[in-house]
Amino acid sequence: MAKLIDGKLIAKAVRDEVRGGVEAFLAARGRRPGLHVVLAGDDPASGVYVRNKEKAAEEVGMAGAVHRLPPTVTEAELLALVERLNVDPAVDGILVQLPLPKGIAAEKVLDAIDPAKDVDGFHPINVGALWTGKPGLVPCTPRGCMRLIAEAGVALAGARAVVIGRSNIVGKPMAALLLAEHATVTVAHSRTRDLPGVCLQADVIVAAVGRAKMVRAEWVKPGAVVIDVGMNRDEHGKLCGDVDFASVEPVAGAITPVPGGVGPMTIAMLLDNTLAAAKRH
Ligand code: GUN
Repeated sequence: MAKLIDGKLIAKAVRDEVRGGVEAFLAARGRRPGLHVVLAGDDPASGVYVRNKEKAAEEVGMAGAVHRLPPTVTEAELLALVERLNVDPAVDGILVQLPLPKGIAAEKVLDAIDPAKDVDGFHPINVGALWTGKPGLVPCTPRGCMRLIAEAGVALAGARAVVIGRSNIVGKPMAALLLAEHATVTVAHSRTRDLPGVCLQADVIVAAVGRAKMVRAEWVKPGAVVIDVGMNRDEHGKLCGDVDFASVEPVAGAITPVPGGVGPMTIAMLLDNTLAAAKRH
């Protein structure tokens, strides 16, 4: 039976660390770190995510605001808001929630964020820093996965890691982080031949494809560590990951559940990134 990696518990520990850091920052600088979230449009899931980010920031004592804009907002208006936040000294972290309304070039908006305030780690300057081993802001979900892997006590040096999914938000930065810890990394995707065979080689599997219960027991080497980034609905409408937890759990050495695995880590790491950005200002 696999060891269950408790993301809820580990995320709470991270938030507690951040809360302490916020108080120390306040004592040293006379102000609280400020996280500013931009929510454009009326995507219901985004609304929930942003409220959770807002609540979590308040709970660790951060300042900041959510900037809510109608679906009719223009690219120019969004860019003007980002520019205003870029130059405001009370703003340490800027997060523009995706997806943006139709007709707005997300890349243009994200690239306009000051890289020093880019707490999502999506700016090309931060992406380049990550791949070249320089200091920068690292995307929250992959950072959260790395913390879960560390807490599971996995020795990554020389281990074979397979990342399923090649998105800019998860798959690619995840590969960079695993590589920096000296894992031998394979990035698999929709065109990968013999995906089950590739996964069977892995000591660590990070599943970030967005397909419910795709990773099954036959794909998993006994004792492998399985990190599930997926957030899907199964045939009964129940929240589930990219990993078929019921079948994989008896085979894996350690595994994250959905919910309660990677999910809570993303917000915890966003808070940690915001504190780090504030300290560097
Ligand atoms: N929408 C879904 N995931 C994310 C994320 O990690 N960051 C932002 N900004 N928007 C998202």
